[in-house]
This record gives sequence, C-alpha cells and structure tokens, in this order.
Amino acid sequence: MNSTYTAVSLVLAIGLWFIHAQRAKRRLLPGPPRLPFIGSALYMPTRRPWLVFSEWDKTYGGIFQLDVLGKSIVVINSLKIAKDLLDKRSSIYSDRPHAIMAGDLNESIGFSKSLGFLPYGDTWRKQRRIVIQNFTPSMVPKYHALQEKEAATLVKNVLEDPDTLRKELHFRIGVIILRATYGYYVTSPDDYILQLGRKGIECFSRTSAPGRYLVDMIPALQYLPSWMPGADFLKEAAEMRTLLHEVANAPYHWCKSNLDNGKTLMPNLCGTIIQNTEEEELKEVQHNVIWGAVSMLGGGLDTNVSTALSFVMAMILHPEIQKKAQAELDAVVGKERLPLISDRANMPYVRRIMAETLRWGPPAPLSLPHAVSEDDVYEGYYIPKGTLVLPNIWHMLHDPEVYPNPAQFNPDRFATDEDVSKTQELAFGFGRRICPGMHFAEGSLFAIIATMLATCDILPGLDAQGREVMPECVYTSGTVVLPEAFGVRLRARSKVVVGLLDEASAVPPE
Ligand code: HEM
Repeated sequence: MNSTYTAVSLVLAIGLWFIHAQRAKRRLLPGPPRLPFIGSALYMPTRRPWLVFSEWDKTYGGIFQLDVLGKSIVVINSLKIAKDLLDKRSSIYSDRPHAIMAGDLNESIGFSKSLGFLPYGDTWRKQRRIVIQNFTPSMVPKYHALQEKEAATLVKNVLEDPDTLRKELHFRIGVIILRATYGYYVTSPDDYILQLGRKGIECFSRTSAPGRYLVDMIPALQYLPSWMPGADFLKEAAEMRTLLHEVANAPYHWCKSNLDNGKTLMPNLCGTIIQNTEEEELKEVQHNVIWGAVSMLGGGLDTNVSTALSFVMAMILHPEIQKKAQAELDAVVGKERLPLISDRANMPYVRRIMAETLRWGPPAPLSLPHAVSEDDVYEGYYIPKGTLVLPNIWHMLHDPEVYPNPAQFNPDRFATDEDVSKTQELAFGFGRRICPGMHFAEGSLFAIIATMLATCDILPGLDAQGREVMPECVYTSGTVVLPEAFGVRLRARSKVVVGLLDEASAVPPE
C-alpha cells in the first residue's frame, strides 16, 4: 500500500512539475493589452516609435512584447538584456525578419539579396566576409585622404553658402562611399549612379517602415491578381525590382569595365576583389560582391548625414563646446594645416564630441530589426521562433542611470576613453550583425567634425527679421532618421583657413 502510494505521488509530482515547466516555458513577456485576432496592433506606435517604447519602460520594464496580427515583436530597452540576447545568444538572435514587400516580392533581385536583409546563414556569412575585409580597422586608413579631402570640400562649399549644408552633406558622403566601394569618383550631385543610390535608400525607407504594407502582416495578399483593386503594391514591387537591379548592378559593372583603362580609382572594395579573383571564381562570387557592395552604399549614406547634422545642431546650441574643441585643435594641429584623421589619438575632447553626437542623436534609434531563429526562453519568458527583436538603442543611450540628464549634449559626461568607445559602439548595433562600416564611418565623421571646428564658428541661422533661430532638434521617423530642417551659418575663423580649405579641396581625386 505504502509503495503504491509513493509511486502514485511520484508520478503526480513529475506530472505537475512537467506542466509547471511547460507553463513557465510559455510565460509571455509583459506588454500592452492583446485583443483577439489583432493582438496589440492598436498600440503599435507609427511615429517615432523609439520614444513611445522608451516611455513604456516605466510600465513594462526593459523588455516587453507586442503581438501585431499574430506577429510577435519584442522590444529591448535594457542594455544588459540586449547584450544577453543579441551578443551572448547571437547564434539564434542574428536573423532578420522575413519581409514580404522588401523581400519575397522582390525575390529575384531585391533587398532580400543584400547583406542588411539576408537571413542569418551561409550566404550572409560569405557576403559579410567580402565587405568586411575592405573595412577593417587596419584597412580603413587607406581612405583617410579621401575622407579628409571631401570634408574640406564640404566645409569650403558650406562656408560659401550655408543653406546647402544638407545637400552638400548628402553629396560628399555619397562621393566618399562610392569612391571606396566602386572606385567611382562623383563630380556632380546629379550624377546618375549617386542618384540611383539615393533612390535605393528611398525604396528601403519605404519598404522597411513597420506596418506600411498590409502584405507584410497578411502574406497571403501577395497572391492577389495584380489587376484587383487594392493590389497596387504588386505594381510598386515590380517597379522597385527593376530599380534595385540597376542600383546594385550599374556601379559594379562600371567599376569592372573601367579597371583596365584606369578610370576606376584603386583601391576600392569591388575593384580589389575583381583584380584578385580568377575569372571563373569571380562568376561564383560576383553575385555576393554586387549585393554586399550595394549594402555598404545604402548603409553608409543617410547614417553619416544624420550624425553630421546632429553634430551641427549640437554645436549651434553650445558655442562653449566649440570653443573648448577649437582650443584642443589649435594646440594639436596649429593654424598652418587642417586636422588629419591620424590626429584623432591626440584629441580626446573632439573624440568625446563625436561619441556624444552618436549618443544624443543615434541615426538608427531602433537599429535594424533582428529576428530569432529558434524558440527561446529568457528569465522564464518564452520568445517564439520568428519573433522580431527591436533593440531600442535610443533608450539605452538616454538611460538617466548611465547618462544623467540625457537630453543635454555634454561631451564631459564621459569619465574614461573606455566609456567613450562603449557609447559610440552602441550606436552601431549588436552581435554578429554589428555595423560592418563602423570604422569607416568613424573616419568620415571625425574628418567632418574636426575640419568644421578647426576652420569655422558654427552659428544659428537667421529668420526673415535677422533674428537667430535655434534648432528644434526634432528627427524624422523611419529606420534611419534625420534631423528636420534647421538653419545654420558658418563663419571662417581666419583667412588662412579659407586658403587651407581651397588647397585641400583642389587636390585631384585618387
Ligand atoms: C554613423 C554611421 C553609422 C551608424 C550609426 C550605423 C549603424 C548601423 C546599425 C545600428 C546597424 C544594424 C546593426 C544590427 O543589426 O545590430 C547597421 C548595419 C549595417 N551598416 Fe551601418 N551604420 C553607420 C554607417 C555605415 C557605413 C559607413 C556603412 C558602409 C560603408 C554601413 C553599412 C552597414 C551594413 C551593410 C549593415 C548591415 C549589416 C548586416 O546586416 O550584417 N553602415 N549600421
């Protein structure tokens, strides 16, 4: 009797433990209310979601979940949790969400082939290896002269006409990326290949905006006949397919066909690979070179422009910070030459300004979405396979516990060089998907920041009555965000610097 009783109790205990374990495994993360069928769709913010998610930190904490029409979305506000999942469990948190509009509907030649969108796996690994080899910390110095020349030309042109700041930034950043990726030196803002790149970015912003296309929520819509009312997105997808084919192929084939006649400036990402690869082997890798290269072009355009604009806004608001940086620049560089990227090591304050700019206005506030490739459990909460994960970089960089008074632009907040690097790195994402262009971007940004500060005082724009107008520091909404329009004036610090800028911008491209 006793042994039967013990055996039954044991079985019951195991059963209960099993049920409890299963329940615990399925425990859902907190989040806004979920309604039948639509889940928390009504709560999904569409404008500047990073700010809303940041507010929700008070209610739901550092990690929470939304269910939008059956799609599970996890938002991470806590840096520790982001590191636990995206860094330490990167083998299952490095996928990208399966996109229909930007992916399947462009199947043969669309975004789904490019590094930023590729699912985690062999093709992604090969493409990433191809691009990263040209942008490692030891490789990027070969582009410093290019970045310095373009920074000087930018400042020279904006000094002449401050209203061109934004346009000139888009142009110069485009010149830098196209030169480094394809050996193609752009000489006009209306250049065909540069314009193609911009159109590619617009396409990306449109198709990657969460919730913009119903087909991403209800994939079956992709099978609608194209003549049906409401199926306009199919026509749009077909047009994008044609455009993206051109965006990716035109600069690559220009680079390849001009290698022998010397028009392709070397070194550059595609040219170096083409030169070092046998024709037969190139046929195999060409597809990945084309799509890896165009991802670098896309990844490097607006992110840099956004950071440079944030820097200018911060400087308008803080003349005292400009003065302090100028004192450092004058001491290290003197007044007879322009700063070089190699001066960076001797300029702790300018380095702090750059890190503070990336903290204050991170260009990709929700990073690029990651996706989970296997079911997972974190601290007892169940995170299903396929969940889209949004690390709220903006919140992490505005956490008052780490950055007191976070809205204040304050380069002095960093106690050590390690704090500077950690903060800066955070703006570039996480784990295996961390931005492959970060070392390259740091060069362009440092060149722009240091050159502008060394040569100019950065002043607020004026209204029609001649009164100074301070920037409002509002950003657009999207995956990569830009400060909204603001006015600026630049005043040359001396006649000598104007001559130095003229000289530097007249150096022939190489
Ligand atoms: C201020 C400058 C930049 C910032 C703040 C930035 C930020 C980011 C972020 C947050 C991601 C997503 C990382 C993740 O998924 O965890 C990313 C990805 C990426 N970035 Fe950047 N980026 C910058 C400049 C550049 C430049 C200059 C290039 C190219 C030359 C570039 C190319 C890419 C590519 C190709 C990806 C996709 C990587 C992948 O999915 O494996 N970015 N970047």
